[in-house]
Parts: sequence; structure tokens; C-alpha cells
Amino acid sequence: MFKLPELDYEYGALSPAISADIMQLHHSKHHQTYVDKLNAALEKYPDLQNQPIEDLLQTLDELPEDIRTAVRNNGGGHYNHSLFWKVMTPGGSQPTTELLGKINQEYGDLETFKSNFTQAALGVFGSGWVWLLPDMSITTTPNQDSPISEGVVPLLGLDVWEHAYYLDYKNVRPDYIKAWWGVVNWSKVSELAQKS
Ligand SMILES: [Fe+2]
Repeated sequence: MFKLPELDYEYGALSPAISADIMQLHHSKHHQTYVDKLNAALEKYPDLQNQPIEDLLQTLDELPEDIRTAVRNNGGGHYNHSLFWKVMTPGGSQPTTELLGKINQEYGDLETFKSNFTQAALGVFGSGWVWLLPDMSITTTPNQDSPISEGVVPLLGLDVWEHAYYLDYKNVRPDYIKAWWGVVNWSKVSELAQKS
């Protein structure tokens, strides 16, 4: 059985970048629903229930066909959101010198990286995610697809589904992204980069 992870901060702690209302809805309703639907899909397959979510998402093609799409969407939703909560922290935090060095090598400076990442996020049509990968490349995925399905552990992910910002920003995705940079937990991203 998969479980909704607890947040390391209160629902209101990322405000004003992300309001308590959005955080509560996003975590306790949207993410909870992905977890519930993932568990429902795995009900008939007890052997799969104890596998790490990363393993399920990396072996989608080997899963029983009747649950493949449900695991892809809801397992992806569970994995992606679990990372998303971790890469945010009240007030944001700083990258390590090591990570900053890698970013600078690829993009010149952090501001240029942020600008490229933002452009990628604005380019996601409909619902999806934008990611920083261990090789310092930026990529996007539609829906709840995740780089982990390609065997790549993302370091940073930004949810650009409207459910992530509509209550606060209506349809203005650029304002959401601009505010989001202020709560990025760069020390967590650095920790993930070191492990990758
Ligand atoms: Fe979301």
C-alpha cells in the first residue's frame, strides 16, 4: 500500500508564493487521489504492492496491461508530487557550490538557468512538468509522465498543471513560476545531485 507522504512544512508556509488553500487541495486531495487510485489499481496484484514506486514506473511495459495506464498516471502522480513537496521549502534555500558549479558550466549562471527552465515551463501545452536532470539538462513531460520511467532520477520538478496555481494565479502561469523560484529548496536539489 502506498501512502500520502507528510509535508516537512505547514500548508501555509510557502505563502505568498503558494497559498495554504492550494497546498491543502494539492496535497490532501490531488496527491491523495493519485495514491488511492494507484492502490486500487494494484489491489488484484499483491506482489506489486510492495515494490518501490520507482521500480513500478521503470517497468511499465512489464506490468499487466489492465493496470498499466493507471500505474503510469497515478503512480507517476504519486512519484512526481512526492518529489515536488521536497524541492520546496519556506523562503527557499541555496545550492551548494558544487551544484552551482555544474549549473554555471552548462548555463553560464543561475539566472540564465532559471530563465531557460521558465521558458520550458511556459512551453508545456496543457498539463505537465518541467525537470532538471542529473546531466543538467532541462526536459518536460506531459500529464504525470516522469523521467524516472526512462531510468533518470530528476533533481528538480515543477508542476505546471493548472491545479497547482489556478486558485492563486488564475491562468497566469508566468507569475506562478516567478513566485515559485522563491521557495525552491536548492539544498535538497544539491543533495539529490550528489546522490545521482
Ligand atoms: Fe499537481
